[in-house]
Amino acid sequence: MNEVFNPRVFQLGYVALGVRDLRRSEAHYCEVMGLTEAARDKSSVYLSVGAEHHNLVLREADDKAFLHLGYQLKPETDIGGFIRDLEDFGLSAERKTDSQPGIPELVEVVAPGGNVFQFYADIGVGPGFRRIGIAPMRLGHVAVITPEAGKLRAFYEEFLGFHYADDIGGVATFMTCNRDHHVVNLVGLPEARVHHIAFELSDNADHPKACDTLAAANLSTLWGPARHYAGHNLAGYHYDPDRVMVELYTQMDVYLPATGTFEPRPWHRQNPLRPQSWRPEQMTNWETSFGFDLVRA
Ligand SMILES: [Fe+2]
Repeated sequence: MNEVFNPRVFQLGYVALGVRDLRRSEAHYCEVMGLTEAARDKSSVYLSVGAEHHNLVLREADDKAFLHLGYQLKPETDIGGFIRDLEDFGLSAERKTDSQPGIPELVEVVAPGGNVFQFYADIGVGPGFRRIGIAPMRLGHVAVITPEAGKLRAFYEEFLGFHYADDIGGVATFMTCNRDHHVVNLVGLPEARVHHIAFELSDNADHPKACDTLAAANLSTLWGPARHYAGHNLAGYHYDPDRVMVELYTQMDVYLPATGTFEPRPWHRQNPLRPQSWRPEQMTNWETSFGFDLVRA
């Protein structure tokens, strides 16, 4: 029998980035990516993919920055108990009311490596899906580079209840809190930044359309679309205006907590497929080579 899988959160809700030119970044994410402005305050703009109030927060900053992640707690979460559990785990938490549009209450925590988390149970309804630009279906995961990968992984696994899904060469560790192969990818390197943010497209046919949309905006597709080994997602990558990498993906492996395996797919080379360590050179299941170095990007 598989070990207990009972994470405290069920999805990544939003990513907050410091951007050098708010108007430029807003134009990219609204006009090219097809997100919608849901709200703004004096320094930030809150953008939605569609269903939830916001999935991306852009804040004007002197330099590009990885500000924080928002994770949605299970609806029945006792916030007071959650804060006490955080303190028992050795982390101090701050309870904030009406600190940002769309979220009446959240708990902010500074986790290992200076990673700031915001946890909330409720978020407002979004403005609906767009029909222009790339128009992804949802925010799916984030890849974070941190010199404190071991401690941060312990927070994810031991406190939040994430499950190990795969790793690449022991450097990149994929973990999940739902049925997606990964909701976070922790990369252990001596720097602290976001490696990429990933949006799920609604259909494989959206990949070439997205590449055409990027090309029309004079943006290169840097890597892919191609199928990864870890997660088997069909993934293509481009840079946003601050050279933060954005992944567009479909067909990510589906995790089955009951068996600790992934739902079988025709393109898997193992059956059953279980979490494992892939070699660093195993980047694309098609063994395609790309000039762009996705690992160092
Ligand atoms: Fe990714």
